[in-house]
Amino acid sequence: MSSPTRPENRVIIFDTTLRDGEQSPGATMTHDEKLEIAAMLDEMGVDVIEAGFPIASEGDFAAVKAIAERSRDSTICGLARANLKDIDRCWEAVRHAGKPRIHTFIGTSPLHRAIPNLTMDEMADRIHDTVSHARDLCDDVQWSPMDATRTEWDYLARVVEIAIRAGATTINIPDTVGYTAPVESADLIRRLIAEVPGARDVVFATHCHNDLGMATANALAAVEGGARQIECTINGLGERAGNTALEEVVMALKVRHDIMPYETRVDSTKLMAISRRVASVSGFPVQFNKAIVGKNAFAHESGIHQDGMLKNAETFEIMRPEDVGLTETSLVMGKHSGRAALRSKLKELGYSLADNQLADVFVRFKALADRKKEIYDEDLIALMQDEERTG
Ligand code: KIV
Ligand code: ZN
Repeated sequence: MSSPTRPENRVIIFDTTLRDGEQSPGATMTHDEKLEIAAMLDEMGVDVIEAGFPIASEGDFAAVKAIAERSRDSTICGLARANLKDIDRCWEAVRHAGKPRIHTFIGTSPLHRAIPNLTMDEMADRIHDTVSHARDLCDDVQWSPMDATRTEWDYLARVVEIAIRAGATTINIPDTVGYTAPVESADLIRRLIAEVPGARDVVFATHCHNDLGMATANALAAVEGGARQIECTINGLGERAGNTALEEVVMALKVRHDIMPYETRVDSTKLMAISRRVASVSGFPVQFNKAIVGKNAFAHESGIHQDGMLKNAETFEIMRPEDVGLTETSLVMGKHSGRAALRSKLKELGYSLADNQLADVFVRFKALADRKKEIYDEDLIALMQDEERTG
């Protein structure tokens, strides 16, 4: 990239939880909840917040405007279709931000072109006119060819060039239906940057959906291909199977910095708090085994794992719980737990046992664990009280 202010390896994190995320059926958030999430995103170092789709409703307009007015460091972006009315409405909402952005899009694949029933030439003219109009209003304009990954190469290259000439500063390449694969994702961005005139003067972004479970891999591959903006959402919230999860790309770039030497500005210690808040306000619980922020992401039950963790946390964890905002790893007590974990847990609860006593308690613990899925601290305390009475 040729930006004079941004180093070559800096990746812009563009969060669209409040726009694409909120589009998930049933994930609607209230005005105040949106403001709260936007403040948390700003605070944690997200570069761009896509705050909503201002023309969609009075409520969306009011939320984007209020978020823009309250913004601190983040750029505040609004979405607009490729028509002047949408773009004007979007500008009305975002112009109050210290750093406003207009994001305008149109579907460019054959299936999407059929909907407005435009010829390729008519669509190309529309792109030119709408991007130019947006750029007359705002210095920061993002343009997206929706369903880019199913658009014919020649046409995609042609419309990307038109958008750049018309003044777009960021070109986003959406994998709208989660169709691409990592190798293809990297190649597409690489080829656009190499072959489209003017492409080296703008930022390329990647926007991946997760229909085949490859959104994070595709986004990271796009960065390898030269993209320097990742579009993502907290908890991967989004249409159908969701979008690239912000917490996954941030932690992947941190943990595997050795092979992906890219920087973000996000404070990862704030990930868990925002994940929980988004789950609560959207009504979309986080699956237990979700990478980074799932309830089990730092939990261990099997004896071998617990034993290893007690000796050296790196045995079974590639990141520290503190790095994502958790205080500690949790050793879940259950039928797979071993003697070492039981000893350590009982010590935590104030019981120091001699070896023979531990052997006795361990037998009773295993019998209990066979009857109960998860053993809580209260169960262990009751077991110890019983042991002290009878044993
Ligand atoms: O998935 C998509 O194509 C989008 C665009 C509006 C960028 O969300
Ligand atoms: Zn999307």
